[in-house]
Amino acid sequence: MSLDHFRKPSQPSAGTTGHQEDGWCDGYTLPHPVWSEEELNSVQITHTPLEKPVDTAAYYSVQMLRTGFDLLSGYSWGKRFGTLDEKMWLPRIIYLETVAGVPGMIGAMVRHLKSLRCMTRDHGWIHTLLEEAENERMHLLTALELRRPGPLFKIAVIGTQGVFVSMFWIAYFLSPRFCHKFVGYLEEEAVKTYTHCIEVLSKQPTRGCGRIQNLLRLLSATADCLVMQ
Ligand SMILES: [Fe+2]
Repeated sequence: MSLDHFRKPSQPSAGTTGHQEDGWCDGYTLPHPVWSEEELNSVQITHTPLEKPVDTAAYYSVQMLRTGFDLLSGYSWGKRFGTLDEKMWLPRIIYLETVAGVPGMIGAMVRHLKSLRCMTRDHGWIHTLLEEAENERMHLLTALELRRPGPLFKIAVIGTQGVFVSMFWIAYFLSPRFCHKFVGYLEEEAVKTYTHCIEVLSKQPTRGCGRIQNLLRLLSATADCLVMQ
């Protein structure tokens, strides 16, 4: 079977609308679950109990990062004073999705290299983590249908990648469990935020409100794809 590895000239770019209807990207994306409307609407906020000290470390690392990011990005103030609108939500969602796509790729790469070094099998985790990384990248590409960030935003993403990729790479070498739990608790926070966003936007009939709500239901439903063990 042959695969097309490059976009054909007649096909639209990722930044344009209509490609999903055409199904042009299905030929080279990894196998992934397809969510029903019912499943999208049934997402609940959940919490996995802390069992070991490393779980506690992961949980509080996420809480610390979230608190700092919420303060610096103005989310805490917006939430407090009820000023969050579509213009504030979209950059936040896009930025966080650029971060969310990192752990799966790093985890897959570290495990891939370990499999080569130790000459042992990985029993499916590499593939699962790659699928998760692609899942998050698709979240980003979907959100980009609603807004295109400017140069300053992209510079911030580059800086974040430099720091986060390095730190997550080292952390995965030291403790894969910490990293998996870290992402698990990060996804719990994502479901909380997206649920709050849907509630806020439901009360604000702004332009594009329906589109962003549909996007968030999709992101919430697929946020727990990387169930941590
Ligand atoms: Fe995501």
